[in-house]
Amino acid sequence: MYLDFYGLKEYPFNVTSDPSFLYLSDQHREALAYLQYGIESRKGFLEITGEIGAGKTTVCKALLAKLDGSCRTAFMLHSDLSELQLIEAILEDYGLTARRRTKIDMLRELNRFLLEELQHHTNVVLILDEAQTLKIKTLETIRLLSNLETDKEKLMQIVLVGQPELRKKLASPRLTQLRQRIGIRYHINPLTAHDVQKYIHHRIHVAGCSTGIDFGPGCFERIHHYSAGVPRLINLVCDRALLASYVKGRSVVELDVIEQSIIEIEGESV
Ligand SMILES: Nc1ncnc2c1ncn2[C@@H]1O[C@H](COP(=O)(O)OP(=O)(O)O)[C@@H](O)[C@H]1O
Ligand SMILES: [Mg+2]
Repeated sequence: MYLDFYGLKEYPFNVTSDPSFLYLSDQHREALAYLQYGIESRKGFLEITGEIGAGKTTVCKALLAKLDGSCRTAFMLHSDLSELQLIEAILEDYGLTARRRTKIDMLRELNRFLLEELQHHTNVVLILDEAQTLKIKTLETIRLLSNLETDKEKLMQIVLVGQPELRKKLASPRLTQLRQRIGIRYHINPLTAHDVQKYIHHRIHVAGCSTGIDFGPGCFERIHHYSAGVPRLINLVCDRALLASYVKGRSVVELDVIEQSIIEIEGESV
């Protein structure tokens, strides 16, 4: 709607996890570096946590682009699968088919695949997004999957990505063995006030507006205060504010428009 008005090629503040918009704040850069290091040095289990909208999925997608050809990756984004459905989806992502759709046959096929890939020195990576929703039993099955370890290396690298509840779930006594095998842990903190401003300019630039869009006094402070530095909330406010400014025929986004956008968002979420 407002693309031409601001000289944009695409919408800068969609809430999809599009890695082409990635802004490397210190937190996101570190998360990415830890993940890459953990996978390349075969740490076994890796844990990434962060609040809703902190950028976990976006970082994982950026990670996929960084991993080289020696990795085979499956990325599970759906959190509402039963254990059987999850195992089936993992097989499908690796392009495998089991003889029968039973847990035992599917796990056997997965094990065969892991041993075969090990011989080829392929690093098999499994990313489980929204892992805080997985049942403890499912997490145990996943640990068993990776259990066949050779002397030196782990058969599979498993990245558990989730909201802060994931950490609590992993603290369960039934998951002691899994927890002990987590080699890398990283919590993605919200953006600082300084980063909020840079983040907004970055996304506008990536969306094709090379001259940038001006924001009036107090706007960035207000957005930081409202969003507490959570990228998803920053996007919601900015998208609204660009639309509202456009409707008013203003090329500069002013504080009153930011306030109005926040009131609208809050009104909808009640
Ligand atoms: N570092 C970042 N750079 C650019 N956009 C980001 C960044 N972190 C988060 N976002 C954006 O914020 C929104 C929520 O991010 P997402 O990765 O889906 O969060 P999470 O998976 O933690 O809930 C998405 O639109 C995403 O593109
Ligand atoms: Mg996510």
